[in-house]
Amino acid sequence: MTKKDLASSPWARHLWDTVGVVVGAQWGDEGKGKFVSDVAPYMDVFVRSQGGPNSGHTVMVNGKRYAFHQVPSGAAFRKPSVMTAGMVVNPNLLYGEMQQVDDPSVVVIDSRTAIITKAHRALDGYGETNGTTIGTTRQGMGPAYESKANRRELITVADLLDRQRLAEKVANYVHAHQTQLLEMGEAEKRIAEERKKQGMQPIEILSPTDGIDEYCESIVAELFDAGQKLAHHVVGDTSVMLQKSVNDGNRILVEGAQGILLDRDVGTVPYVTSSRTTAGATLADAGLSRYADRENGFWGIIKAYATRVGGGPFPTELENSAGEKLRKAGVEFGTTTGRPRRTGWFDAVATAYAVRVGEIRTGYLTKIDVLSSVGNPMICVAYLVDGKITTEFPTDARVLKRAKPLLEPMGAVGKINRHDTVMAGRRKGFGALPAGSRRYVERVESLLAEISGVSDFEIAAVSIGPWKGQTVVKI
Ligand code: IMP
Ligand code: MG
Repeated sequence: MTKKDLASSPWARHLWDTVGVVVGAQWGDEGKGKFVSDVAPYMDVFVRSQGGPNSGHTVMVNGKRYAFHQVPSGAAFRKPSVMTAGMVVNPNLLYGEMQQVDDPSVVVIDSRTAIITKAHRALDGYGETNGTTIGTTRQGMGPAYESKANRRELITVADLLDRQRLAEKVANYVHAHQTQLLEMGEAEKRIAEERKKQGMQPIEILSPTDGIDEYCESIVAELFDAGQKLAHHVVGDTSVMLQKSVNDGNRILVEGAQGILLDRDVGTVPYVTSSRTTAGATLADAGLSRYADRENGFWGIIKAYATRVGGGPFPTELENSAGEKLRKAGVEFGTTTGRPRRTGWFDAVATAYAVRVGEIRTGYLTKIDVLSSVGNPMICVAYLVDGKITTEFPTDARVLKRAKPLLEPMGAVGKINRHDTVMAGRRKGFGALPAGSRRYVERVESLLAEISGVSDFEIAAVSIGPWKGQTVVKI
């Protein structure tokens, strides 16, 4: 399919011509993969520019479910899928992910992309048990971004292809962190023995348990092997390809990961991820800021309620049966870690902050169908902070923790018959949604525009089910 098809689609009014970016507008898991499935037929090239195996994107298309963590979703559609230097990757997992798709040759990766080793993963666990517990995915994200930032410990995709150099870099990293790694090794040994005694499943040992040299060797062997398998996907400079691709008239989708409220700099620090997650930063890491369509190229995925995995303040959290219902109906369990997600009401204050700071103009609202499982959903329209009502999002996590949500009852969103609604949606747009759902969408849209100050903010589409096309587009 090409751009010709777009002209006759309701998406035509909303999608970009050159480059667009899509990011999560909450704490991740908003349904970015669903949006990508809907618009994939109109896209030529897909890009991931930050994050890594911490993210989980579910793409459901043609009766098949793909679980992507690092590979851009375009791989499910046999389209060029580019991973830029802004990412950090686990090469073994990457190779495994590629095997899900019919044609892995569409995937390319920048030679400068940082590598996550077993030692980085071990140290992610160390940080979680010996410092502030962030509730990370334990994929080694933080330590790998630390290696990138300190430069001396950085191991890149290019290094995987040179065994000698790889061995030096791995030894350098392991020796620099030897004390903590050995401490972790002792702890893991104890846990492993304990589990064995109790007849439980063994854990994957990530730290050195019998000598540093053996440990380094095992890492090098594993990484070199992965490097050989990935070698023909490696390119020197992905930004050259991408910029040329725009100039050739291709339409490019840059896929964000996590959510704006998990941004390392402007999220709910320190309970955030280690990369930047705003639309602006995600585009910049692809080398495509200048090419983005200003009008239609800045998309945020917004879930009709709120979820969060891991620690950190969550003002609208529901620790009751309504929260449990949302978790069940919305299947709110982590795609990467399997952890149950914390659930809560839609938070207009937090999401409006994300819209503004994350540079979003167009919203794609997901999972409104899930809300029909709870009789009377609420929306948080303001916070009560230390006796004052405010729509300003506190930048200090300790203050945010004290924020009490002021909730507005929305009434039932109504039962959505997916097939009929999609059919009617082609003619009637949002008019096809039950009255309660329509009201909900309009309220979310106007609150976000008003509180964020992004006056032209618009919700352009509403997702009513997990499969591609179970969506109503505004006409
Ligand atoms: P890390 O990215 O593994 O370091 O985890 C830092 C925080 O971000 C934790 O609260 C994680 O649960 C959260 N996080 C990381 N990736 C995702 C994601 O893709 N979806 C939702 N939360 C995420
Ligand atoms: Mg996810």
